Amino acid sequence: MKSIVIKQPNELVIEEREVPQPKSGEVRVKVKLAGICGSDSHIYRGHNPFAKYPRVIGHEFFGVIDAVGEGVDQSRIGERVSVDPVISCGHCYPCSIGRPNVCTSLTVLGVHRDGGFSQYAVVPSKNAYIIPDEISDEFAVMIEPFTIAANATSYLKPTENDIALIYGAGPMGLTSVQALKGVYNVKEVIVVDRIEERLDMAKISGADRVINNTSLSLKDELDKLSIKPTVIIDAACHPSILQEAISIASPAARILIMGFSGDACQITQQGITSKELSIFSSRLNANKFPVVIDWLTKKLVDPKKLITHQFDYSKVVQAIETFEKDQKQCCKVLLTFS
Ligand code: NAI
Repeated sequence: MKSIVIKQPNELVIEEREVPQPKSGEVRVKVKLAGICGSDSHIYRGHNPFAKYPRVIGHEFFGVIDAVGEGVDQSRIGERVSVDPVISCGHCYPCSIGRPNVCTSLTVLGVHRDGGFSQYAVVPSKNAYIIPDEISDEFAVMIEPFTIAANATSYLKPTENDIALIYGAGPMGLTSVQALKGVYNVKEVIVVDRIEERLDMAKISGADRVINNTSLSLKDELDKLSIKPTVIIDAACHPSILQEAISIASPAARILIMGFSGDACQITQQGITSKELSIFSSRLNANKFPVVIDWLTKKLVDPKKLITHQFDYSKVVQAIETFEKDQKQCCKVLLTFS
C-alpha cells in the first residue's frame, strides 16, 4: 500500500508499505477520503511539539472496514466508517469523567501514532464509527472537524438568547458558526477575521454579521453597535485575543479558547471576576462522533460549505501547499485514496 509519510520536518514521501494486519480489538480501514488540517501541515513543517517522526499524518479520515482483528465481530467488515483519532486509556481521571480527549496517556492518530493518509489504516474498533447510508462520503470525512465545534459548544451550552462572537473564519470558526446557528439557533452570530473572502465563507455558513478587524478596534466597533457578546469562541488563537475577548464580553458571558500557543498573554483577574466570566478551553473531542453523526442525519450542519478543494493523494504536496498558501480561496482540502 501507499502511505504519506513525514520522514522528518519538511521531508514528505509517498512510501510503499506492507498492508497492516489488525491486532486484537482493531479494525483495518480501506481509506477513501481524508481531510487536511492545520496540524498536518504543522507536523510536515516541524511545528508540532507532540509529533514523533517518521509519521503517517492524517486524523480526519473515512473509509470501509476490510478486515478485523481478534475479538471484533466479522460482521463489521464492509461497514462505512469515520474514525475518531482520540485513543485513550479508559481508566485515568479524565477518562473516568468522560473526557478521554485529555487522557493522561492520550494518543492521537496521525500525531502520536500513524494516521489516515494511507491506503489502509489500522485503528481500535471502538474508534471506527459506522456511518448511516444517508450521509455521503464527503460529509463523513468532515465529521472530525465538526466534533471540535461539538466539543466546544458542549461547554458553552449556547441558547437562543445568546449573541455569539467567533474570532477566525477558518475551518474551526466555520464549523462553530454552523453549530451555533444550525444546532443551537443562537440569536446572533458575529464572525471576526482579517480576510474578506473568509468572512464571505462565514456568511455562507450562517453568520449574521461579519467584521473585518484589519484596521479597526473591535471594541470600538462593538460599542458603536451596542453589542456585548454573551458567548465568545477564539478560533483564531492569537495569544492577544483572550485579553480583548474579556474586554468585549458581556457580564456573565462564556469564553472558549482552543489555541495551543506557548506565548504568554496578559489578562487580569479584575477583567474576569468583575463580570463573573466563565472561561473554558476545548481540545479535540470527547466522544462527539455520535453527536455530529446525529447533526448530519438531521441536516443541522452542512459540511459542503467548507469543502473547497479535492486532490488525489498522489498530489499531496500540491494539496498541502494550496492549503498553506491560499487562505483566501481555500478552506477544507480533501485527499482521495480510493
Ligand atoms: P486557520 O488558520 O485556517 O484560521 C484561522 C483564522 O483566524 C484565519 O482566517 C485568520 O485570518 C484569522 N485570524 C488570525 N488572527 C486573527 C485576529 N487577531 N482576529 C481575527 N481573525 C484572526 O485555522 P483553523 O484550522 O480554523 O484553526 C484555528 C485554530 O484552532 C488554530 O490555531 C488551531 O491550532 C486551533 N485548533 C484547535 C483545536 C482544538 O481542539 N483545540 C482543533 C483544531 C484546531
